[in-house]
Amino acid sequence: MLKQLREDIKAVFARDPAARNTLEVLTTYPGIHALIMHRIAHELWQKECKGSARLLSSFSRFATGIEIHPGAKIGRRFFIDHGMGVVIGETAEIGDDVTLYHGVTLGGTTWNKGKRHPTLEDGVVVGAGAKILGPFTVGKNSKVGSNAVVTKEVPPDTTAVGNPARFITKDKPKDDEEARRRDYAESIGFQPYAATQDQSDPILDGMRVLLDRIQHNEKRMNTLCQRLSLLDPSFKKQHDEQPFSVEELKIIEDVRRECEAQGTQSKA
Ligand SMILES: CC(C)(COP(=O)(O)OP(=O)(O)OC[C@H]1O[C@@H](n2cnc3c(N)ncnc32)[C@H](O)[C@@H]1OP(=O)(O)O)[C@@H](O)C(=O)NCCC(=O)NCCS
Repeated sequence: MLKQLREDIKAVFARDPAARNTLEVLTTYPGIHALIMHRIAHELWQKECKGSARLLSSFSRFATGIEIHPGAKIGRRFFIDHGMGVVIGETAEIGDDVTLYHGVTLGGTTWNKGKRHPTLEDGVVVGAGAKILGPFTVGKNSKVGSNAVVTKEVPPDTTAVGNPARFITKDKPKDDEEARRRDYAESIGFQPYAATQDQSDPILDGMRVLLDRIQHNEKRMNTLCQRLSLLDPSFKKQHDEQPFSVEELKIIEDVRRECEAQGTQSKA
């Protein structure tokens, strides 16, 4: 119990830059008070002392403004910042290293018994005022934006914002152009991670330009070939030249210079 408390206090220091010392955290953080009381209430609940467990959790709610049902399962290093108005239902399950801000509800949408509250996997952060309603899972390391209303499963490493919540996955390409480039790079077996990320390496910029040009030329060639083969079935191959723009030529020239410089370095 003491070891767990030490971990919980460390979690406060890790996640709240305003925390100054252990005494202050122990005496002025309602999230810590509620957590200590919940750990005791949960033990009582599991030992079938349900009345005492409910009494303790009601006292905790009165003292901290945080309502945690004694049946809720809470993992290690849990942190509730500010705390006022947090409600955690009976069948909610919370993994390790989860953070909640004030006004969060982990609630149900049905009066039926059984699992009716959400499960938050490890590392989830839930912003102030967010409502997560129903017996689904919020995946590992996901974030729920403040005031979001989430009523369906959130995949891992996803940000859920708005009402109803929309999901944002960070490694998703930012726009259609980027998605198209990535698809094409994959289709020709080109490893896309470096070339399609936003970075200023001239070699990668050059690769990006070349990929675009190759794709453009191939499309054009295919169309031409199809049309010409209608006229002349013996037609096999034609070339269609597309001049590079000044900007593209400059990038390719930069790449050439960079490659030459690397070649000179490796010879020396
Ligand atoms: C959601 C959150 C965690 C940011 O996550 P993120 O993955 O870094 O997301 P981004 O900042 O890149 O924003 C992604 C998109 O979501 C939007 N967004 C972010 N937070 C939002 C919110 N709470 N509600 C609605 N939309 C939100 C952004 O405007 C952006 O929209 P766009 O793609 O149309 O430009 C953060 O905004 C948040 O709400 N944190 C809670 C903080 C809190 O409660 N603090 C209380 C301290 S007392």
